[in-house]
Amino acid sequence: MSNIFVIKKKIKSFYNKTVRVGGDKSLSIRWVLLASLADGKSKSFNLLKSDDVIASIDAIKKLGIDVRLKKDFCEIDGKGLNGYKYKKNIVINAKNSGTLGRLILGLLANCDKKIKIIGDKSLSKRDFKRVTDPLKKFGIKFKLTNNKNLPLTILGSKNLKPIKYNENKGSAQCKSSVIFAGLRTKGTTVVKAKKSRDHTELLCKYLKLPVSLSRKKNYDLIRIKKAEKIKSFNYYIPSDISSAAFFIVLTCLTENSTLTVKNVNINASRIGIIIILRKMGAKIVFRNRRFYKGELIADIFVKSSKNLRSINCPVKLNSSSIDEFLLIFLVAAKAKGTSFFKNLSELNQKESPRLTLGSKILSLMGIRNKITSSSIKIFGNPQIKIKKKIIIKNYLKDHRIFMSSVIAALTFGGEWHIHNKDSINTSFPNFLKILKEIQK
Ligand code: S3P
Repeated sequence: MSNIFVIKKKIKSFYNKTVRVGGDKSLSIRWVLLASLADGKSKSFNLLKSDDVIASIDAIKKLGIDVRLKKDFCEIDGKGLNGYKYKKNIVINAKNSGTLGRLILGLLANCDKKIKIIGDKSLSKRDFKRVTDPLKKFGIKFKLTNNKNLPLTILGSKNLKPIKYNENKGSAQCKSSVIFAGLRTKGTTVVKAKKSRDHTELLCKYLKLPVSLSRKKNYDLIRIKKAEKIKSFNYYIPSDISSAAFFIVLTCLTENSTLTVKNVNINASRIGIIIILRKMGAKIVFRNRRFYKGELIADIFVKSSKNLRSINCPVKLNSSSIDEFLLIFLVAAKAKGTSFFKNLSELNQKESPRLTLGSKILSLMGIRNKITSSSIKIFGNPQIKIKKKIIIKNYLKDHRIFMSSVIAALTFGGEWHIHNKDSINTSFPNFLKILKEIQK
């Protein structure tokens, strides 16, 4: 079957549709990793079965952990904090997943045999120095390719020293990796972290691990002590707002349409896109808010928006919408006025250089925009109608580029040939199936 997805028609209005998207990717990977170190069997429901999460399961299997992945649940037989068993020179393949590749390094802080971490072409271009630099200070040894890339080897230490770490990129992956290493280290590790998603901290709190979080206005202060044990735990993974976002934006940009996305994680550190879209005139409400094991969940109801306006996006919302900017740019393309997004150099550190590629896609769509290495100005056109052929290829198989391009094609028209359809397996294997349900 062709791996090129062709769209020639805009989507028709849809009304009163309800969808469920897959489990949250960040929570799925964190659950797999923490359950692998728990005492005994942990079960999860609604675990995201995407390539990034399967790579995480394969990684812990390589470390000697038994996993039963069934249709309705996943069971991990944790062997305790020091229960990893593996041969010398094993290779862990993080594939496309920055979260797996970086978080696992913290858990391997005390490994006494060399482990090699590899990744796919996209992950091998990404910066790992940002995480190995703080981890080295614990006493962990690394060998990186080109001083900053995968493949890398890690050799842990039995004599880890606690560190003080100033995380200033707003990277939850760097923060979480250091928290995991801190849980293996005697003494108190202190992290001063620029705000970023806090799932690791919330899970640690739920598991009563020695991690304390003190929220300040512009940063968080996290203190971590050595964990004695992790009790096994069952978890129902809520749906991923980063997946829901595709259909939220589809609805905003399609006339006379309404949609509900059920049971979505609306953790405050993840809902930047909702706050930004509301400021731009989108109609989005949370219904049935409830807490689940420290995470806030809701059903998200969204209606099409007629009068979208531009935004000068506050930088404090960057981290909580970091995976959604390609979609936000599409809304800015249709909004009245000029939108401005700044301090966004992190966007070029993702699975592909998303700031650069986002700008290229807008240009292909005929939307004037100006970028620098860290900002973009988008000159919106509420009358936007695409008539030409647009080909999207050579984008390092970035799943979010594929799915955002599909949303652009369905809402703005034109004839789109979008390559690498199978990239959706990274984070959202059901994406096209749910799209069909909406169109039924
Ligand atoms: C993630 C953190 C973010 C995000 C990624 C998932 C996580 O990356 O972009 O998709 O689960 O911790 P950074 O930590 O690099 O910002």
